[in-house]
Amino acid sequence: MDTVAITGGTGHLGSELVRLLKPTHQVRILTRRPGTDPEVEWVQGDLATGQGVPETVADAHTLVHAATWSPTAQRGFAHPVDFWRSPPDVDVDGTSRLLEAAAAAKVQHFLYVSIVGVDRPTMPYLRLKHTAEELVSVADVPWSIARATLFHWLLDRMLGRAMRLPVLPLPGALPVQPVDARDFAEYLTECIRNGAGGRREDYGGPEVLSLREAVRTWQSARGRTRRVFNVAAPKRLRRIAADMTCPGGRRGKTTWDEWLHAHPGD
Ligand SMILES: NC(=O)c1ccc[n+]([C@@H]2O[C@H](COP(=O)([O-])OP(=O)(O)OC[C@H]3O[C@@H](n4cnc5c(N)ncnc54)[C@H](OP(=O)(O)O)[C@@H]3O)[C@@H](O)[C@H]2O)c1
Repeated sequence: MDTVAITGGTGHLGSELVRLLKPTHQVRILTRRPGTDPEVEWVQGDLATGQGVPETVADAHTLVHAATWSPTAQRGFAHPVDFWRSPPDVDVDGTSRLLEAAAAAKVQHFLYVSIVGVDRPTMPYLRLKHTAEELVSVADVPWSIARATLFHWLLDRMLGRAMRLPVLPLPGALPVQPVDARDFAEYLTECIRNGAGGRREDYGGPEVLSLREAVRTWQSARGRTRRVFNVAAPKRLRRIAADMTCPGGRRGKTTWDEWLHAHPGD
């Protein structure tokens, strides 16, 4: 069995990928907090320091790099500081460390997980993801980059936090194309099977919704009735939101409504 090493294998996407790969591959996970699943080879480490990186890549055929550190995603809302800076230690420094180690270990496929729309990054976190993509694309290791749109879990978390406000001003016309991390994980298994192939087709959810529709569906599934005020979105924001969708790309099958009903709370 080929070994697939995964960073971020404990996260929302990574845990789905691990579940899909276990029957056919030896799966190794780099994590700060190893789990107990005996079918997984756990490497305790930290991309921010480089601990565990050589052990993660040793004898691995494929390395899937899905670890990330987004303060906005962790909190579920953007703090003013997130518009100013984002810590680079995992997404840029950690990616560099992994690339160097993967090249030295002759890894045959470095698969980097990224985000639709990072070509024209607006937030510091997205700039880090874009920088990481650039590092991957010039590295001395065969690579692929697979981008996805916003995951359902994150939209759910963000709306859950936003709905704590007494009233919510919402640029309701903005487009959003949320995708199930499980559907995207299936696509990643296809990328792994196909081997290194450069930029892969972008991957998004089955529907492009307006933010207004997405919120309405969320409120109905979660039984919430917070008052929402529609505000006009500036042209620049509309352009950014549209860049983060991929109506012409590959599409998952799980709709936002289906996902919400299958996941009663974050
Ligand atoms: N969320 C979205 O909407 C979205 C959309 C498109 C693409 N993506 C991309 O998909 C990938 C996975 O995202 P996700 O939403 O599944 O992430 P997530 O659930 O927030 O998981 C983050 C993962 O990163 C690992 N990690 C964080 N800091 C680390 C460190 N210092 N050293 C080693 N590992 C570290 C965590 O592992 P431990 O805590 O176990 O150490 C965890 O497994 C990322 O590349 C992300 O940019 C996300």
